[in-house]
Amino acid sequence: MRRTIINSLLLAATAAFLSLNWILQADPNQRNFEVLPDMAHSIPYDSYASNPNFRDGMTLRLPVAGTVIRGITPLHYAATPADAERAGRVLVNPYPATDAAARTRGAAIYNTYCEICHGVSGKGDGIVAQRGFPTPPSLLAPNALGLPDGRIFHIITYGQKNMPSYASQIDRDDRWKAILYVRSLQRGK
Ligand code: HEC
Repeated sequence: MRRTIINSLLLAATAAFLSLNWILQADPNQRNFEVLPDMAHSIPYDSYASNPNFRDGMTLRLPVAGTVIRGITPLHYAATPADAERAGRVLVNPYPATDAAARTRGAAIYNTYCEICHGVSGKGDGIVAQRGFPTPPSLLAPNALGLPDGRIFHIITYGQKNMPSYASQIDRDDRWKAILYVRSLQRGK
């Protein structure tokens, strides 16, 4: 009698187990049931995908107005004669004439970017000028001798008449070093 009861209980348990197993089939594509998932599963947006959460619909946010690029000090000058004059009054070459390493680097910059027009010694007889480009004034002439360093910095940065800007090719440090080299050409040593 006892055995019959135990057996029927076991049979009932097995049947319950099998039917539950069938009813609650696991779907590997579905998450397990979660209680209070809160923010465990955020909605990812690709950087360039449109995004309904912002009024302009962009996922990537623009930098705040006035943001300064790390490591780059803003240069508050414009390509105008007035600002060229102001640069000449305000900007000072951070490298002293005695800095040999800076001068050597400046020579490399000059010979790479300036020499083609201004010539090896600065007389304005570079190969480009010899082939028909408007001849630049000699860097050894009184006018160039009288230009303050800051003014030349402005010329390299923004260009001047037929001379284009070299801001994208020569970083600021190298512009100052090139000026150091121009000064040494002017001194003749
Ligand atoms: C594509 C040719 C060209 C290149 C390259 C060039 N320049 Fe010039 N540069 C000129 C011309 C042309 C002028 C005259 C502009 C004008 O009429 O005001 C000039 C003017 C100048 C002046 C003013 C001279 C004066 O007496 O008014 C300086 C200083 C100068 N350049 C320095 C440089 C330096 C430094 C570099 C290299 C970073 C350089 N230039 C590269 C063509 C060039």
